Amino acid sequence: MLKTNNLGYWYTQQKNSLFENVNLEFKAGQSCAIVGQSGSGKTTFLSLIAGLDKPKEGTIEFDGSDINQIGLTNYRKKDVSIVFQSYNLFTYMSPLNNLLTALAVTQSSHAGDKDFAMDMLRKLGLTDAQMKKNVQQLSGGQQQRVAIARTMVCDAKLVVADEPTGNLDEDNTAEVIELFQQIAHEQGKCVIIVTRESTVAKACDNAYRLAKHEFSMI
Ligand SMILES: Nc1ncnc2c1ncn2[C@@H]1O[C@H](COP(=O)(O)OP(=O)(O)O)[C@@H](O)[C@H]1O
Ligand SMILES: [Mg+2]
Repeated sequence: MLKTNNLGYWYTQQKNSLFENVNLEFKAGQSCAIVGQSGSGKTTFLSLIAGLDKPKEGTIEFDGSDINQIGLTNYRKKDVSIVFQSYNLFTYMSPLNNLLTALAVTQSSHAGDKDFAMDMLRKLGLTDAQMKKNVQQLSGGQQQRVAIARTMVCDAKLVVADEPTGNLDEDNTAEVIELFQQIAHEQGKCVIIVTRESTVAKACDNAYRLAKHEFSMI
């Protein structure tokens, strides 16, 4: 599903590169964690594979095509869905309208399907009343579930998450990880989670550590 070929990145000078010659493969139907200390380059790596920034060296292939060939705008809209630590919901909207907006923007096959969006929010534990309130009235755990529901209703086959449990307590962390496992195993998507938490890495199907500019399987 996703492959990096000799990927390298640095911000200012090549001699200070964050990583070089990274060759990794991520498969559909599996979850993979990338663990590393703060500042190791996890977010940078995610921004490259999500098409938010361009590699300094190497290429990224999605379903056999270079993402530059797909077009980064097109790739971000159709193929990738991102979950952030800070949820990144439209704060002035309800959970339901957040999902409907995502379906419209990504031109999903389910665009405009209110019942489909409500079913997903129900599945993720929101009541009908909660899904129509402003998202800011929900707890952090509930807001992250809305962000994950948004990913689950969208068609994008690649799901990347940047420290998605960073703001959550243990119980909510376990629930959120379980949802990512469902996205991989039941929806057949490719899930890549960047995290500092080894508990999250243990719960995923595969894990790499990013340390000293290198990715190693753990
Ligand atoms: N826009 C930027 N310009 C210059 N340096 C940056 C920029 N963004 C991040 N960095 C540096 O790159 C390194 C890796 O950052 P980041 O990818 O955010 O790591 P992580 O997500 O693992 O904490 C850090 O040393 C950080 O200070
Ligand atoms: Mg980061």
